[in-house]
Order: sequence, then C-alpha cells, then structure tokens
Amino acid sequence: MVVDTPIRPARINPFTAERFRHVMGHVPTGVTVVTAMTRQGPVGLTVGSFVSASLDPPLVGFLPARTSSTWPLMVPVGTFCVNVLGEEHEQLCRGFARSGGRKFDGVDWRPAAETGSPVIDGALAWFDCVFERCHPAGDHLFVLGRVRNLDVRAQGRPLVFCHGRYQQLAAPDAAHDPSTGG
Ligand SMILES: Cc1cc2nc3c(=O)[nH]c(=O)nc-3n(C[C@H](O)[C@H](O)[C@H](O)COP(=O)(O)O)c2cc1C
Repeated sequence: MVVDTPIRPARINPFTAERFRHVMGHVPTGVTVVTAMTRQGPVGLTVGSFVSASLDPPLVGFLPARTSSTWPLMVPVGTFCVNVLGEEHEQLCRGFARSGGRKFDGVDWRPAAETGSPVIDGALAWFDCVFERCHPAGDHLFVLGRVRNLDVRAQGRPLVFCHGRYQQLAAPDAAHDPSTGG
C-alpha cells in the first residue's frame, strides 16, 4: 500500500531585520580582535565573522561593516592580524567593540615578526595576514587575507558569543569523555 505523506511547506515568515538578527542570534561564534599597525599607531575592532576560507592557498576571511571606522584605517596598511580571544577577555572584547577612541590603552601586545601587526598578549591564537582581496557583501565587506604566520599562544577556552551575550564553553565532562571511555 502506498501511503501519501503530505508535504507541508515550511511556514514562510516575512523577512525583517529584527527576525534576521533573532535567528542569527542562535548561531554561536568565536570572538576575535582584528588589528593592524598604522602610522598613527595600533588599531583594531572586535569581529565575530572570522572564518577559515581556504587551505591552499591559506586564506581566512572576516566581514567588516561598511560603517566601521577602523577598517578604512587598515586598508592602506595592507596587513592585519586576527587575535582569537579567550573566555577571560570579555572586557577587552567590549573595548574593541566601541567605535573609535584609544582602544589599545592598557592592552599589552607585541608586533608580529613579519608584518608588525599587533598580536595581543594572552590571545589564544593569532593569524598574521596580508590583505588578499575584498568583495562587496551588502552593508558589509568580505575581506580575505593570506595567512603569513600563525600560532597558538595560550591554553584556555575560547570566548563565545551567542543569544546576544558572551558565553563560556562548559568544562569537558569526564563522564562523557570518549577518550576515557565515559
Ligand atoms: C561579539 C561581537 C562580534 C562582532 N562582529 C563584528 C563583525 O564581524 N564585523 C563588524 O564590522 N563588526 C562586528 N562587531 C561590532 C564592532 O566591533 C563594532 O561595531 C565596533 O564599534 C567597530 O569599531 P570601529 O568603528 O572602530 O570599526 C562585533 C561586535 C561584537 C560584540
């Protein structure tokens, strides 16, 4: 016997910016600070849109908003560094999520050997990049960088942003750790 299963079309909700934000808010992201060394000094902004794009060649990407005041300062430099933040970096993250101002005050960093881009002390990992290309992406830009150097600097758990707030990954539960047979 053939049973017809009615195919119910997904309910289509009207698109609104609020709905887009609400649904995207369910997608957890890591948190990074993208930095560059300009003639006026170090600059940076908090970025959640960091993504690995290609292994060969090694490319990473992120999406600065067209309204970003820091991105235009980075463009002529031609290099940038992506610093991956740990769970203890919430305040630092908030500082770099403010537009403008002296964001590096009180922040310890050292210049990356090849490009001079700021590597923030205590960042879990960093990717030192040379600007590769930039695609328009609506009210953002999709920036690709070629990775020149990268490293893991510190042990620790990453800072996570989800549901509109900072979150921490739960500590690994030994009872459910496959490596211990739990
Ligand atoms: C968790 C988090 C993730 C963010 N991700 C991005 C991002 O991917 N792209 C972006 O342009 N701004 C992002 N922002 C917002 C910028 O950090 C913020 O607009 C900042 O003020 C920009 O500074 P600027 O005007 O100095 O460039 C994020 C903010 C937070 C808190």
